[in-house]
Amino acid sequence: FINYILIMTLGYLIGSVPFSYLIPKILGRIDIRQHGSGNTGTTNVVRTLGLKVGVLAFAGDFLKGLIPALIGNQLYGVTGGLIAGGFAVLGHCYSVWLGFNGGKGIATSAGVIAIVFPLIFPIILVFQFLVILTTRYMSLASIGSAIILPILTFFMYPAYVQIVFSFLLAIFVIYRHRSNLSRLISGTETKILNKK
Ligand code: G3P
Repeated sequence: FINYILIMTLGYLIGSVPFSYLIPKILGRIDIRQHGSGNTGTTNVVRTLGLKVGVLAFAGDFLKGLIPALIGNQLYGVTGGLIAGGFAVLGHCYSVWLGFNGGKGIATSAGVIAIVFPLIFPIILVFQFLVILTTRYMSLASIGSAIILPILTFFMYPAYVQIVFSFLLAIFVIYRHRSNLSRLISGTETKILNKK
């Protein structure tokens, strides 16, 4: 049990490092929370500072999901990977360095999924690409991915812990996107990479 507490703590602390806040602060000298959607996540960094800075922020947020999941997986198998990765996502969304605030969990979850559901990872990537290409709504791609994750897990990784994890992650990510959801419904959500 103490082992699980340790990987939870490790996951949370790694996940807490707010790359999408730090990189805009260092490279753009701005507080990303005062710009665009105010979210400390890849999408808002791309929106505010462009693709290059956004890719850097994404890489940081992605790796902080991937690394704990990898460590947890090596030490305690699939369950270890899921727990460490899950806590990294929580760390990203409720970072101790940002007053228990943070992003919406997508980039960090992607890092976790790359380790714990390697067969689902490319499917979600293609899905996101298609949704972005056709609608230009990043949040719709995120919410859509959250919805298909438990369904894909049910067919591709049909074990109890994996299905429960996917389901909880999906609910959590949709909850974090509740402001986007109401903007999508009212038709006021901003599009990304929109050439006017
Ligand atoms: O993953 C976050 C994205 O889905 C929405 O970001 O900045 O448009 O709220 P944002």
